[in-house]
Amino acid sequence: MFVNLRRIRKCQCLQLMTTCLVLSVVMVCWDDSVVSHVKAYSYRYLVNRYTFINKSFTIPRQEAHMFSNHRYLLNHPYKCSGEKNVLLLLLVKSSPENIERRRAIRSTWGNETYIHQTLGVTVKVVFVLGLPKQQEAAHTRRSRGGTQHNLVREDRLNGDLVQQDFVDSFHNLTLKLLLQFRWAHAYCPHARFLMTSDDDIFVHMPNLVRYLQDIDRKGVTDFWIGRVHRGAPPIRRKESKYYVPYEMYPWLAYPDYTAGAGYVVSRDVANKIYQASLTLNASLYIDDVFMGICANAMGVLPQEHVYFSGEGKAPYHLCIYDKMMTSHGHVADIYELWKAATNPEVKRVTSGLFGRLYCTAVKLTLLCRPYFLNSYPCKAALL
Ligand SMILES: *[C@@H]1O[C@H](CO)[C@@H](O)[C@H](O)[C@H]1NC(C)=O
Ligand SMILES: *[C@@H]1O[C@H](CO)[C@@H](O)[C@H](O)[C@H]1NC(C)=O
Ligand SMILES: *[C@@H]1O[C@H](CO)[C@@H](O)[C@H](O)[C@H]1NC(C)=O
Ligand SMILES: *[C@@H]1O[C@H](CO)[C@@H](O)[C@H](O)[C@H]1NC(C)=O
Repeated sequence: MFVNLRRIRKCQCLQLMTTCLVLSVVMVCWDDSVVSHVKAYSYRYLVNRYTFINKSFTIPRQEAHMFSNHRYLLNHPYKCSGEKNVLLLLLVKSSPENIERRRAIRSTWGNETYIHQTLGVTVKVVFVLGLPKQQEAAHTRRSRGGTQHNLVREDRLNGDLVQQDFVDSFHNLTLKLLLQFRWAHAYCPHARFLMTSDDDIFVHMPNLVRYLQDIDRKGVTDFWIGRVHRGAPPIRRKESKYYVPYEMYPWLAYPDYTAGAGYVVSRDVANKIYQASLTLNASLYIDDVFMGICANAMGVLPQEHVYFSGEGKAPYHLCIYDKMMTSHGHVADIYELWKAATNPEVKRVTSGLFGRLYCTAVKLTLLCRPYFLNSYPCKAALL
């Protein structure tokens, strides 16, 4: 009897060990994206908890300074400093040629005058840019000069462009990130919140302002909110836009970070990120990931807000407008959407018990589909 029991246990133990072995072999060998996500997600715990990333990215200050000591070609040192009570500094990552997008933002969600008059708060909107890209070899001088000339004129009219002398390209986005935190530190350290966004997103400014006022009243610190990527694995396919070589980032997962399309941090976090950037190697060119590395070095973790979008566009509906914060991928429809989303009709339809019930039903049908929508998550329907 005794012997039997032991034999059974031994058997089970062997079985368990074999299973584990097979599983780990499968995990290591089968480099499918699903598995890499599973691996990364478990690995994430380590990355977020320990400081090896911090250690390996730390370089001497003089060397870190090389990444951020670009010259300002356009700047407005007093845009923010003249005003004591700034709720939000909004830095929009734009590119020299996106003049139409900037125009649309200035007359919709980024209209400082409208925000001040209608919402009663001060929001400062600044577009951050690098140098126009070199065009075809033959026209190099002329076309770059032309775009730059137009920028100077645009800036004279609007007074809201901040430009440094690095080439404005995808692989220089981290330099643009450094520019933003450096500018905020130098010229707008008193803004209570800092937001960074793409120039093709829609921000529901009234909703965002109300939300930030609420947070501000509670006096929160270590606040960092957006669409959170948890345990995202680095992409090792060379064809991908987001390809990152092992030498640049050797680990299986990035620290938690928020999608670069749009996120908000509190004043203290903005300062911490700036401080971190003074001693970190900024050669990792994916800007939102690098922001995650800076935050990791300072022990700051992001929080998810279901109405911040990552890649996807929000569905067009009154019930969505009532709650939305940001939505990604809007260019041509931005005027239209701004008008619809700020219409007083939204509040009328969505308030009261009946309005809330109706909207929950609508949002369930819009957001909870069996296939991947890449919009707001299903649980947003219940809020
Ligand atoms: C911004 O809003 C103000 C007040 O509503 C308006 O007068 C002004 O024309 C708007 N600016 C733009 C660029 O649309
Ligand atoms: C980034 O900017 C630097 C400085 O202007 C430039 O030398 C470099 O080529 C740019 N990198 C890319 C990928 O455009
Ligand atoms: C920063 O990291 C890159 C690899 O991504 C490396 O080639 C470079 O030497 C590092 N810079 C410093 C100053 O250590
Ligand atoms: C990251 O490294 C710096 C300098 O080595 C250190 O001061 C800081 O406390 C570290 N951060 C964390 C979260 O351990």
